[in-house]
Amino acid sequence: MGKRNNNRLFHYEEYFSKYENLIPDYESFLSYLKTPMPQYFRINTLKASTKDEQEYLLNILRKRRVEFEEVREISYFYRVINNEEISLGNLEEYSLGLIHSMTLSSSLPVIALDPKPGELILDMCAAPGGKTGLIAMVTEDRAIIVSNDKRIDRLTALVSNIKRLGITCAITTRYRGEQFPFGIPFNKVLVDAPCTGEGRYRVGLEGEVLYQKGTGRANLPSIQKGLLVRAFDLVEPGGIIVYSTCTINPKENEEVVDYLLRKRQAEIVEWESPLPFHPGLTEWEGKPYHPSLKLTKRYYTHEVHAVGFFVAKIRRIN
Ligand SMILES: C[S@@+](CC[C@H](N)C(=O)[O-])C[C@H]1O[C@@H](n2cnc3c(N)ncnc32)[C@H](O)[C@@H]1O
Repeated sequence: MGKRNNNRLFHYEEYFSKYENLIPDYESFLSYLKTPMPQYFRINTLKASTKDEQEYLLNILRKRRVEFEEVREISYFYRVINNEEISLGNLEEYSLGLIHSMTLSSSLPVIALDPKPGELILDMCAAPGGKTGLIAMVTEDRAIIVSNDKRIDRLTALVSNIKRLGITCAITTRYRGEQFPFGIPFNKVLVDAPCTGEGRYRVGLEGEVLYQKGTGRANLPSIQKGLLVRAFDLVEPGGIIVYSTCTINPKENEEVVDYLLRKRQAEIVEWESPLPFHPGLTEWEGKPYHPSLKLTKRYYTHEVHAVGFFVAKIRRIN
């Protein structure tokens, strides 16, 4: 299935040509789209907490013929080498919540959020729970996480992942993020927004763009702006908001953050990235953005060997 425009399939070179001058080493990017997306898993230290338990778990996975290598940059993450032969979701260790499969770059918004035990954290678009799971793990199940999503079908997956991973510090809610109720003094809010998902796109057999089901229907930048402004209004002054997407489109990334900076007293803050990135844009298609947008981070699939991402860490000033 390719991305349709006036009833025709997009060829990948045509689709991505708008980013030719944006994406570094563009030819490598195009070639990389033809390769299968690497699979990653992380050990869930809420269930395998000691070094001995973790070694034991890794040995069992080896016996199940999972070939993997440790990701040095991000603790507890492993890259599957025999990608084609392994379906992580079918492993017993997955069902038991000892491991969780998630793309490597999906950890970045949580690393930027830097969650701490005792903090009250809203995960505004949480399903199916990859990032909620990591927040719970990093805080040793000692934060209070409100995991929200607007879609009931995806909430089912979220609840089941929370249970499977042995998380007890998360509650789930179902609101449209833009209407999440006031009155809870959140220390941090994560907005892992719905997006076109261009960072996940691959190339099909006939050169067509393979893309995520369900994208391309709504006015995403308008939804994303609504979510981010609400996140700002929900966090306490001085609190942190992380805005992330898995898309390349600046209109869903820098432009959304730029909108917030114009509407509210917010500033973009630095954080240390474990993976290679490029600074955010301060201009796109002739439209200038706030100069501090360069502090946001862009991740490209061929450089991180995982889903492409955008991450902005923002502080509420007032
Ligand atoms: C990128 S996915 C989130 C992935 C998730 N953070 C994770 O790590 O597993 C975006 C999510 O936003 C949800 N969503 C879409 N529009 C929303 C809205 N207006 N309010 C809240 N959630 C929304 C979708 O149902 C979807 O689950």
